[in-house]
Amino acid sequence: MTLRLGSVAPDFEAETTQGPIRFHEFIGENWTVLFSHPADFTPVCTTELGLVAALQDEWDARQVKVIGLSANGLEDHKKWIADINEISHVNLTFPIIADADRRISILYDMLDYQDPTNVDAKGIPFTIRSVFIIDPKKTIRLILTYPASTGRNFDEILRVIDSLQLGDTYRITTPGNWKKGDDVIIHPSVSTEEAHSMFPKGVKVVKPYLRLTPSPF
Ligand code: BEZ
Repeated sequence: MTLRLGSVAPDFEAETTQGPIRFHEFIGENWTVLFSHPADFTPVCTTELGLVAALQDEWDARQVKVIGLSANGLEDHKKWIADINEISHVNLTFPIIADADRRISILYDMLDYQDPTNVDAKGIPFTIRSVFIIDPKKTIRLILTYPASTGRNFDEILRVIDSLQLGDTYRITTPGNWKKGDDVIIHPSVSTEEAHSMFPKGVKVVKPYLRLTPSPF
């Protein structure tokens, strides 16, 4: 099954560093970021998970639960978390899934078919750097795939969540390089006449198809 934007995030049971979970129960009423990394005790991954842990207040402020995944076992995850906490001066509290048999990596198409060095001792591919943003209805709203050699920018993940949450509340979209607080775009389905009553902070018509309004929050 190919996962696309708009697909329901497949449910699964998994062992994690915080105990067993059923994914849909874990999501509950929250937004969720499910992200995989190639392997524990590797340099780029260590910096990435330190960053995700350091952003815990930002995830909480947006009602986002984060959950990591790799093909390593629970013992490795737990030992590695101690390293991450030491190196990045954080207290990593989000769960990391142990997917040694690649059951969930296959379900979410997270295995590496590109980097012949990103394999375990048996030559079986590890995971790539995948990110799924999932909304409270369990719908996949973003899919990202990064190569093993490039660490991700988690500020970008937060930026997309801000855009999606705003767009779910108001009839707006967000321009390129938009960040929280910047002007937003009035959705094309809203007439300019409607826009004037819908957006009391003002409507700037750049072109009939490009209308801006100050951020509603
Ligand atoms: C890293 O995290 O540094 C890494 C992991 C697997 C392959 C390449 C880099």
